Amino acid sequence: MADTSSLVGAPSGPAGWPAADPAIDALFAEVIGTPEGRRDPYTRYKALREAAPVYASGMGLVICTRYEECQFVLRDPRFGKAEGTRADIAQARFGHLEIFPRIEALLSDRRSLLFMNPPDHTRLRSLVSKAFTPRTVERLRPEIVALVDGLLDQVNPGEVTDVMSALAFPLPANVISHMIGVPEEDWPRFRNVVSQATALLEPIVPDDELEAALLAQLELEEYFQALVAERRARPQDDLLSQLIAVQEGSDRLNEGELISIVILLFGAGFETTTNLIGNGLYALLTHPDELSQLRSDLGSGDRSAVIRAAIEELLRWDSPVQFDGRQPFEDVDIGGVTVAEGHEVVTVLGAANRDPEHFTNPEQLDLRRNEGPPMSFASGIHFCLGAALARTEGQVVFERLLDRFSSIELADDSPEWKNRITLRGLAALPVVFSE
Ligand code: HEM
Repeated sequence: MADTSSLVGAPSGPAGWPAADPAIDALFAEVIGTPEGRRDPYTRYKALREAAPVYASGMGLVICTRYEECQFVLRDPRFGKAEGTRADIAQARFGHLEIFPRIEALLSDRRSLLFMNPPDHTRLRSLVSKAFTPRTVERLRPEIVALVDGLLDQVNPGEVTDVMSALAFPLPANVISHMIGVPEEDWPRFRNVVSQATALLEPIVPDDELEAALLAQLELEEYFQALVAERRARPQDDLLSQLIAVQEGSDRLNEGELISIVILLFGAGFETTTNLIGNGLYALLTHPDELSQLRSDLGSGDRSAVIRAAIEELLRWDSPVQFDGRQPFEDVDIGGVTVAEGHEVVTVLGAANRDPEHFTNPEQLDLRRNEGPPMSFASGIHFCLGAALARTEGQVVFERLLDRFSSIELADDSPEWKNRITLRGLAALPVVFSE
């Protein structure tokens, strides 16, 4: 097991906080810092929630593991994204890296929608939200079905297929690339680049991965600067050209905001939905009774309602995004713990999804469950902009998979998880399909 001692017993939180408990700190440290903890975060979340649902950790973070407090923190306007100048934040996190001088100006200049507060967040989000409403996305469904069928046509039944490479990655990458207008020949090269860049969202990242993440960020930046220039000269029927038109027609979007929102949309569609497909299929294959129940429900009931409920449950069961967080703009009480202005609060979405006060028998996969949405897309003003798109992609994938293949077997009982926790997913998922 990796050494997590440096994460435990760090100086305690502010005066007046409940005393941190090294045993509870160790549980959280295992989740964020060890392969074992990342492989099975749920037993640790349970122990953490039972010990202290709002826990003022020795690491100086407040950790929320119940649905109610996670929702409160994500929705209450007294919480938001870290304020302070981007330059300060960049310096504190990356200042020690060799690459820092090359990327410093970019880091302090670029502000992603994901890290903004109102009113800038409201202004920017309103410029892109129309492209992602459930109604707009529903119109894409036939295209998504055709894409999934095209990918499944390439599967060789009876042979081992890595679902991550054959389906889970290419589908969402293809869909978001088409929407934005990234030429098809370019998107495969971004699989690694986007994956490297998302390391920035992880709580613990070794320096070499941080360097790679910043280099990946630079590569995305340069690529999209060139693509924006190209679309400015020759607009097309895509989201990028629409955003350029907004930028030229008003002062509501500057060049830096344009580039960073396009990079966010592009990147957000990659690892997340990929992991919904991978984690979801793995959950089905390790719960054969649920899988056969789903097959029979699809054969006899309202297919659309059946598959929608199943996708909500797969999102709840093993959320592709496990961690989110906010800081309070003033002192706020969360479940009896007073959190000082500016303190970091972690909302553990994967733990909220297993909260027994919100979901009946949460440690049981139940594809017929109907207990409201999981916390997987967060809540409040940063609620996932791509939720309707991700849900539709998930519904189409699982429906088509079960329609086309009479059996799907795991070719490896313990597939390898990526060394990530904020974005939780499998490195590979080898299976054998039979028609
Ligand atoms: C199953 C797949 C997905 C999951 C689990 C997921 C999850 C999330 C979560 C938890 C947040 C909130 C972050 C926060 O509170 O700071 C978020 C935000 C966001 N997501 Fe997703 N996401 C998924 C797919 C997508 C897709 C396909 C897109 C493509 C457009 C997308 C675009 C975004 C954007 C732009 C934001 C930022 C919204 C804002 O800050 O206002 N997501 N997502």
